[in-house]
Amino acid sequence: VQIDIGRGLVEAMGLANVRLIQGRIAELGDELGRFDYIVCHGVYSWVPEEVRVAILDVCDRLLTDNGVAYVSYNTYPGWKAKEIVRDAMLLRAGDRATAQERLAYARGMIEFLHEQAAEGSVLGTVMKEHIDMIREGEDFYLSHEYLELCNAPCYFRDFVAAARDSGLEYLGDATVASMFASNYGAAAAPALLAECGGDQVMLEQLMDFLQNRTFRQSLLVRAGRRGEIQYQVDPERIARLHLAGRYVPETGADGAPQWRYAGGATVSVGTDATRVVLERLNAAWPATVSAVELMADASVEDASRVSDLITNLVIGNAVRFRVEPVVAGTMSASPFAHAAVRALAAAGENPMSLFNQWHQPIQLTPLQRYLLPLLDGATQPEALVEVVLREVEQGRLHVMREGQPLTNGDAVAASVREQVNASLNLLMLNAMLATPPAQPAKKAAATAKQGDKCVEKAAATKPAKAANAKAEAKPEASPKPAKAPRGKK
Ligand SMILES: C[S@@+](CC[C@H](N)C(=O)[O-])C[C@H]1O[C@@H](n2cnc3c(N)ncnc32)[C@H](O)[C@@H]1O
Repeated sequence: VQIDIGRGLVEAMGLANVRLIQGRIAELGDELGRFDYIVCHGVYSWVPEEVRVAILDVCDRLLTDNGVAYVSYNTYPGWKAKEIVRDAMLLRAGDRATAQERLAYARGMIEFLHEQAAEGSVLGTVMKEHIDMIREGEDFYLSHEYLELCNAPCYFRDFVAAARDSGLEYLGDATVASMFASNYGAAAAPALLAECGGDQVMLEQLMDFLQNRTFRQSLLVRAGRRGEIQYQVDPERIARLHLAGRYVPETGADGAPQWRYAGGATVSVGTDATRVVLERLNAAWPATVSAVELMADASVEDASRVSDLITNLVIGNAVRFRVEPVVAGTMSASPFAHAAVRALAAAGENPMSLFNQWHQPIQLTPLQRYLLPLLDGATQPEALVEVVLREVEQGRLHVMREGQPLTNGDAVAASVREQVNASLNLLMLNAMLATPPAQPAKKAAATAKQGDKCVEKAAATKPAKAANAKAEAKPEASPKPAKAPRGKK
């Protein structure tokens, strides 16, 4: 059933280079050829031993010589405590008839243990840590993560040993910053480095203990590439990156000015060069700026400072980086989203989330989901306001204020205008907008002439499927990145 939904979406999005195939991993032969990238998300530690071996075997057999595989899995030591939660949930879920029933009973068990466990006891601490997630976690996440029959977390070191047995080598973590001892504080870093004796796998295993890590996203390559892997940051490679970040100036606890990165880290404003770089990244957000450009901005003596700053931002998880630039759309007169993204948004509630120019899953508010299919690069915001107002008139959308529907015509129009503009702005900040494909000069001129017509046509566009009768255009918060299906709790 899921595969049919997926195939329907691939067709709706007009993707000619995607094929969804259903089958057993162990039976995957060589008929599909070899791959530059293999992504195996949320499977490895949720399947029996023979399938885990098959996953690594497929990576070895089907990766190209320069290919990279991504495998995610639950890890110890973090899962030691989570196993207590899982065992208790499974006990109460028993063999009740439906998945919903099992989950309801399982949630009840955690509430019970949370209430009954003695304050400060091991159980009390574990329950305290998990209770919010059990209360608020979405059904599909909790079912897969806690009630799945097979759940086999492993230590990172054992995962790497298994990968090596299959002819693979550990390249790095998908979250690069998690690989650096310096993120564990000036005191811990030298001790960690001394203890691991230059062995990156040992270093990361020790850091897993320090932070009680529960989940990993490991990158693997073929063993033959072992000699090319280096774990020191190379300034020449840093200079080839494209970077993006959003930073808000604030005052630190010590009264000194600092910038807060949207991901959580803070950056102290050491020099003018720092300020210039962060302001430049802010101005470009959500698009990237090349490291070369950032360094060229600085005076000659500052270029090396900028290089060091970029290195520190990368290591400290305070910047996004890519080898290729990421181009994102701006708030142009007629905002544009890719046809594939528009089609996906119009396909209704089936996709759990949409994705942005950064390939991140993004969850949208009903109004954003309604507007997205209309962003064809030829429709101005005012025309979008008209479309939404028509939906409100016809009772398919409701404008709410403090839980009550607004009825005054002027107030409704003002609220819709405000919300449409705010939604467009948030779509832009969340990198949901793209740059329209360049039009041949003649066609562009013709489109410019027809400007008004386009708006009229768009205003008459049939409401997107996503705008179901219940969608409410109520004041909204920013679209939050969708919850990762697993491992992020
Ligand atoms: C925990 S779910 C994860 C689903 C999805 N990857 C995600 O992250 O949301 C594990 C998935 O592995 C699939 N699976 C289990 N054993 C398999 C096998 N031998 N071959 C192929 N898929 C398998 C299950 O059908 C299930 O969809």
